[in-house]
Amino acid sequence: MPDVRPIGVFDSGIGGLPIAKQIRELLPNENLIYVADTWHAPYGEKGEDYILQRSLAVTDFLISHDVKAIVVACNTATMVSIKTLRERYDLPFIGVEPGVKPAAIHTQSGVIGVLATEKTLSSHAFDSLAKRVAGNVQVEIQPSPKLVRLVENLELNSAQASFAVEEYVQPLIEKGADTIILGCTHFAHLAPVIREVAGSEVSVISTELAVAREVVRRLECENLLSKENLSGANAFFSNGEVALFQKQISHLWGEDAVAQSF
Ligand code: SIN
Repeated sequence: MPDVRPIGVFDSGIGGLPIAKQIRELLPNENLIYVADTWHAPYGEKGEDYILQRSLAVTDFLISHDVKAIVVACNTATMVSIKTLRERYDLPFIGVEPGVKPAAIHTQSGVIGVLATEKTLSSHAFDSLAKRVAGNVQVEIQPSPKLVRLVENLELNSAQASFAVEEYVQPLIEKGADTIILGCTHFAHLAPVIREVAGSEVSVISTELAVAREVVRRLECENLLSKENLSGANAFFSNGEVALFQKQISHLWGEDAVAQSF
């Protein structure tokens, strides 16, 4: 029996869209439901209880749409909530964590830099990830609080975006980082600016493709893939201002994307 139930993907806003796009490319037959918890963004500025309560509420919403798996397409929510989500719900959760392992393998200078929210960088989960996989590599962290709002405002190429990126990237380069990790899904939207500011000697590591591949692997393992030979449908929900969400998804996904409220 084909399992045509949708895959749920959520983030505090539009940061998870690049992951959803990669999933769409790898799994063209699957139905997707994307949820932006915009009213409660940015998660990186909230307390852990708040982020957990929002992760639970969005999960309940996705389950009410009969999803078969949930992608927590937000580093902060993954770091804070995924353990509890896995304990409380009986369906697969795929999270996203900063790519410390690939960066540690890739670096030549022995120094890697992590751009992420303050909440991600101060979380116990990030600390234990870095200790577990970085080996002898020096991990330099850089909280980047201005970037999420710039992305939510679609300021992806503005002078403000370049200034803010410079403010966060430069200290990492001064500390010797030759590899920079995008440790917040929103930052993938700023990857061209980050690459330009960092320069050609610095590698920028983003994890969208790795997450999408993990989604395929988990669904295959659990026999949850839709074998239907149909084009999958996309649904987009936000609890923020619907006109803004429409503008965001039209710009970042395509003109045929339709914003819905929840
Ligand atoms: C945010 O809402 O602050 C961004 C969360 C993230 O992807 O880490």
